[in-house]
Amino acid sequence: MANGIESVLVETRVFPPPAALAAKANIAGMDAYRALCTEAERDFTGFWARLAREQLQWTRPFEQVLDESQAPFYKWFADGELNVSANCLDANLQNGRADKTAIIFEADDGTVSRVTYRELHARVCRFANALAAAGYQAGERVIIYLPMSIEAVVAMQACARLGLTHSVVFGGFSAKSLHERLLDTQAVLAITADAQMRGGRRIPLKPALDDALAMGGCEAVRQVVVYRRAGEDVAWTEGRDTWWSEFEQGQPETHQAQGFNAEHPLFILYTSGSTGKPKGVQHGSGGYLLWAKLTMQWTFDLKDEDIFWCTADVGWITGHTYIAYGPLAAGATQIIFEGVPTYPDAGRFWRMIQSHKATVFYTAPTAIRSLIKSSEADAKVHPASFDLSSLRIIGSVGEPINPEAWMWYHKNVGGERCPVVDTWWQTETGGHMLTPLPGATATKPGSCAFPLPGIMAAVVDETGNEVERGQGGLLVIKRPWPAMIRNVWGDPERFKKSYFPPELGGTIYLAGDGAQRDADDYFWIMGRIDDVLNVSGHRLGTMEVESVLVAHELVAEAAVIGRPDDVTGEAVVAFVVLKQSVPGDEEAAQVAKTLRDWVSKEIGPIAKPKEIRFGENLPKTRSGKIMRRLLRTVAQGQEVTQDTSTLENPAILQQLGKAL
Ligand code: WT7
Repeated sequence: MANGIESVLVETRVFPPPAALAAKANIAGMDAYRALCTEAERDFTGFWARLAREQLQWTRPFEQVLDESQAPFYKWFADGELNVSANCLDANLQNGRADKTAIIFEADDGTVSRVTYRELHARVCRFANALAAAGYQAGERVIIYLPMSIEAVVAMQACARLGLTHSVVFGGFSAKSLHERLLDTQAVLAITADAQMRGGRRIPLKPALDDALAMGGCEAVRQVVVYRRAGEDVAWTEGRDTWWSEFEQGQPETHQAQGFNAEHPLFILYTSGSTGKPKGVQHGSGGYLLWAKLTMQWTFDLKDEDIFWCTADVGWITGHTYIAYGPLAAGATQIIFEGVPTYPDAGRFWRMIQSHKATVFYTAPTAIRSLIKSSEADAKVHPASFDLSSLRIIGSVGEPINPEAWMWYHKNVGGERCPVVDTWWQTETGGHMLTPLPGATATKPGSCAFPLPGIMAAVVDETGNEVERGQGGLLVIKRPWPAMIRNVWGDPERFKKSYFPPELGGTIYLAGDGAQRDADDYFWIMGRIDDVLNVSGHRLGTMEVESVLVAHELVAEAAVIGRPDDVTGEAVVAFVVLKQSVPGDEEAAQVAKTLRDWVSKEIGPIAKPKEIRFGENLPKTRSGKIMRRLLRTVAQGQEVTQDTSTLENPAILQQLGKAL
């Protein structure tokens, strides 16, 4: 949060778009941008209808554009039908891209394989035929727990082709997280791999799924399809488990895709909220795909010759929209990477940009910050040691990018010639919302600039009134947009409560981020306004971690907060009261390790507290509310200057102030 506030006050550098890029850009210049915005303002539904008709192939054309009759349960193109996968694959066979490379896959060990659109289409058809032959039907849910691979895209696309709603679970999540998602979606099928390869190591996947299925309540799961990635021995449940290769054996490589309603749930993706249980963000088909494709063209200025690389994992929304759907819908050639940025060394990203001649590169601030550190320590892995001249646009996503990291990225990766697109969006928004346009917007380090055309963003106070320029407030989207979240899976009340609070009228989307606009109207994101942390660009609910901690037999009470961190943006710090008395130093270190491992096992390594501090109590008000504000101060090693007179037990601050 501090970064955003400081940078908006002191940041005066402005970088105009390069003239040559702007001249040929898909949105060329601010006038072109403003013309689109004006079109959307004058005729909101006409604007979206035009784009949806131009961009997508409909098996049944829509007449209805936006249905607001049940707001905030908005519907887009609701009487239209289309097939998402046919729009991503068949459409490219028809428009002359059949022999164009769709995916350049680079494995952890550096092995490269390529598939054309024709080949990808054949593989998706074959897998879809296998799914259909096994009896899976539109509307049923499928859990996908796969490593970064062509197979992950094939599985997602094949589901989309049949109208099966997928829910991808990030490979770093635990058996328990998988179990929650299996139960909540009532999935009928799970697709996994024996193991994944990361940084030269095999990390088992199927055992976690086996454990999850053994936790009970997953009787709906009829089969487990296993992709053999690592040649790892796996336990086998006869009758339930089947190898991917056997599952699809003998299936034809053609498949006539059927249209589904534009509102048909394409996928459910879980994300942390401010209460304990992650929310199943439900997305639709037509509107989502439209935005995935359009933002490829607008934000990344995609051209047919581009080599696009998004480094996200398909387990996150970025990997859904900017790997599995957007690049394919837009007919791009994209790189998919299995491994990690630091293996075999921290020059991996730059070496891959060089060898594949990537032109558009999209990554997260946390990766940039960690690679800054590595390249300061070792010149061999510095971007300057590689030829990055193929790049023309570089992007950032997931968290606020601090101006220093922005400047380093701009200078060392972008060679001072590539526009930096700092894209603000969320799992719930489906695609980019606020971002500079590479051929139009003059960028300011740390600002995500302006809303895309048709996105009616504003900064308001608690009562919904727009605040003045230079004032902080709540980031809201005043009108619906096609790629927006449709529901929280199985919990419409939570959907309304979380995103459309009555104080703002009940129909305006509340993002959960604080923001402010500067005198030039640029948006600056100030961080979450709720109890959600952002660790390495991943969302984590403080309550989620707390409830796991208190579930441990040693723990009586826990409070979790975020502390600013040089590399991960925020780091998890947990304050814990044990059932036994406060442990001495040696024992404390041991218990801390036990609890860190516990959180890792229960949620996943990303949730592991960086630090755990023990006290005999937590700072509470007389009414029993934990004062997290004070804990944040304490965790940063700062002196508490806030008013502590309402504290029941002010002495506790000193005890908690001590790091292990
Ligand atoms: C939260 C959404 C968007 C896909 C990856 C994360 C933060 C995201 C930015 C940015 C400042 C950003 C926000 C948002 N965030 N991008 N460019 N500048 N903050 O998706 O897990 O749904 O998290 O990430 O706080 O609310 P997510």
